[in-house]
Amino acid sequence: MWKEIYKSKLIAIEEAVAKIKSGDDVIVAQCASEPQGCMAKFHLVKDKVENVRVFSVLTLKPYDFYMKPEMKGHFELCSWFHAPGSREALKAGAGTVTYVPNMLHRAALDRIHAKKPAIFFGTCTPVDSKGFVSLSLGITYEKDVIEAADSVVLEVNENLPRTFGDTHLHVSGVDYFVEYTHEAPTLPEPKPTETDLAIGNYIAELVPDEATIQLGIGGIPNAAALALKEKKNLGVHTEMIVDSMMELYEQGVITNKKKALYKDKFICTFAMGSRKLYDWLDDNMAVEFKRGRWVNDPCVIRQNSKMVSINTCLMVDLTGQVASEAIGTRQYSGTGGQTDTAVGSVEGLDGQGKSLIACYSTAKNGAISTICPVLPEGTAVTLHRSNVDHIVTEHGIAYMRGRTVRERAHNLIAAAHPDFRGELKEKAKKLGYL
Ligand code: COA
Repeated sequence: MWKEIYKSKLIAIEEAVAKIKSGDDVIVAQCASEPQGCMAKFHLVKDKVENVRVFSVLTLKPYDFYMKPEMKGHFELCSWFHAPGSREALKAGAGTVTYVPNMLHRAALDRIHAKKPAIFFGTCTPVDSKGFVSLSLGITYEKDVIEAADSVVLEVNENLPRTFGDTHLHVSGVDYFVEYTHEAPTLPEPKPTETDLAIGNYIAELVPDEATIQLGIGGIPNAAALALKEKKNLGVHTEMIVDSMMELYEQGVITNKKKALYKDKFICTFAMGSRKLYDWLDDNMAVEFKRGRWVNDPCVIRQNSKMVSINTCLMVDLTGQVASEAIGTRQYSGTGGQTDTAVGSVEGLDGQGKSLIACYSTAKNGAISTICPVLPEGTAVTLHRSNVDHIVTEHGIAYMRGRTVRERAHNLIAAAHPDFRGELKEKAKKLGYL
């Protein structure tokens, strides 16, 4: 029965893309779940449509529909988190990309509230013997949008792992399928530098045995994972599951056995990493993918025991305002789940939660200090200073929670690069912080 339903819904990619109409809000799955077959052809309908907006948390590829300047007026990429492609298009000033301020756990619901999406394009595994597909590598917002959109197109990719949790969907809940099998997108894991490892060691000092951890995006969180090898019975409640978590599980460091919430299970909303990670996720009952609006809800995160969130920032001012997504008025990435996870952790119900924000002490080959007296004009604050707990650099840990402005400035200067400490002290005095 489901086979007939599936066949009746199977169309060509060109047909699927032709369903986009002028004025539509289209939402696409993000990251490794990106519908690459369809997105690579959106630009082909350019002359038939105007004012189409395409929403995504993070687009992996630089697609023509937003990279080519002639797409202006036809397509606009509305990004919840910029990646290299959208960053480049923004820089070129073609007017085909914009940013959507958001906190990840509310991104989909806020968008649906603003305007009902016309079409959702996503990816899934082939249909199983019971007529279900798995949404595979992510349901951060995808399932919420599937339930809200006027129509749903899924790209079937044989190389996607069949994951568990809330990822299943019956063929009857999908309007159109297209078949597009290709290698699932992978993420190279950069080798940690000496600086990454130094930060990782400070982070390890702050992570107790039996902690439940969340790791953010970037080189530092990977190095932090390496530094956790001697810990016991760690658990995971995270937005993104990555290779280092799988490795710590294989080494017996992560067991999930002491978690207060979903004991014995990894909890995540999406995965991005190597082919080895995807093979490990395939049919793996130890990993539950749940909607981002639940996983990243601070009220849920706080129920975990010894919750420690580990994220990264670009700069921090001497009072503790954390900037992780923008440099001046230039939007570099996005808020993502940083505020969600930091707030959920410091508000841990067991009183043992911690939020760690890691930061290289300098940027631009040592030319500037990332710990700065004030943020550059126009810089968006990702984490309000009232929510900041620990700032960690390769030079130490700056304790912030409950600390006065004077203490904060003092602690941050001690964690700044030695070359900048004198100058920072002078500026802090002038600003009345010290
Ligand atoms: N001033 C100017 N430029 C700066 C800077 C500063 N204070 N700090 C960093 N930069 C530059 C770097 O030199 C680098 O430039 P390059 O690309 O030309 O080399 C660039 O900004 C990126 O810095 P880097 O430290 O390599 O970034 P990363 O890839 O490790 O990512 C964040 C770090 C903060 C951008 C990333 O973690 C992020 O977007 N976080 C926000 C959201 C979040 O944490 N969400 C939770 C998980 S989704």
